[in-house]
Amino acid sequence: MKQLIDPYNRKIDYVRLSVTDKCNFQCFYCRPSLFKQEFVPDHSYLTVADIEKLFIVLGRLGIRKVKLTGGEPLLRKDIVDIVRVLRDNSYIQDISLITNGFFLEKKAFDLKEAGLHRVNVSLDSLNEKSFQKITQTLSLERVKKGIVKAYDVGLEPIKINAVLVKGMNDEELFDFVRFSIHYPFIVRFIEFMPTGFTQAEHQVYYFSNHEALLRIKEKFSLTPKIQKEQTGPSSYFKVDGGKGEIGFISPLSHNFCDKCNRIRITAKGDLKLCLFSQEDRNLLSILRSSHWEKKLEETLIENLRLKPKHHDLGKGQIGNVQSFVNIGG
Ligand code: 5AD
Ligand code: SF4
Repeated sequence: MKQLIDPYNRKIDYVRLSVTDKCNFQCFYCRPSLFKQEFVPDHSYLTVADIEKLFIVLGRLGIRKVKLTGGEPLLRKDIVDIVRVLRDNSYIQDISLITNGFFLEKKAFDLKEAGLHRVNVSLDSLNEKSFQKITQTLSLERVKKGIVKAYDVGLEPIKINAVLVKGMNDEELFDFVRFSIHYPFIVRFIEFMPTGFTQAEHQVYYFSNHEALLRIKEKFSLTPKIQKEQTGPSSYFKVDGGKGEIGFISPLSHNFCDKCNRIRITAKGDLKLCLFSQEDRNLLSILRSSHWEKKLEETLIENLRLKPKHHDLGKGQIGNVQSFVNIGG
């Protein structure tokens, strides 16, 4: 069987697929006010049919896990159909979605029914004022309701993502830990990554997970979770007496590139071999051409040879990344 294996012997079985570059939030680390986004024109989006075809080939090449992301994926009117074609793909074993939670209460049931397994919800603050400061919206309560609904319909395990921003939510570290004690959710602290439009902000607002862990350990008793396979930049802990867990996603202070198992595909069908790589290979025209199966397979295998060994984020690399909203958070 053919497999996506790169020159560093990393087996790729995970795709992060962005389904839209639009978002109804304006998180300051993702869509800062200076960032004038050029949106993908409607005709350039991968359709449900394109996605279906894409994953037929990806499945044959060993992809088993998909994360739907954006922008805000629930802004896509056909998001439930997208989930359904992935569910109907016999190779795909795990389908998850990353959302800001705004439409989650409304959509959770349909998504679960269509075959979605679980969700990651961004929740950068538990305090309405800071939530507004970070996201430019007044929707904390609505997002919380979405999380409850997702839990009720069984979109589990629920992961909560909090990007740490110095002076905005680092004071809430203990509140987040308590949140993971009271609720059966996995609360993950994410390091703010610099992009084209946030380099200056990054200098001022970056807060390391190393520091976060030190602070939390002073107050709470943590037991590290042994992970079956370490393929991402994350580590998890059980908090004494807690229903949930906490986790740290540390792309800057810990580099896990040697275990990388993923590729990304953007809303317009650009293949991204690494978050920070410069080369994009567009797959849309291939998907809409004759002999697409063979051509797509060849293109994927050929391009995987270009997957970089690691990113240089720790050394100030930002590549061509303007914002995660363009390529999928
Ligand atoms: N740094 C870290 N994470 C980011 N995200 C977006 N922009 C950044 C950034 N600059 C992630 C957040 C959010 C998801 C949609 O994308 O985790 O939850
Ligand atoms: Fe939207 Fe997510 Fe970016 Fe916030 S981080 S602006 S919710 S895409």
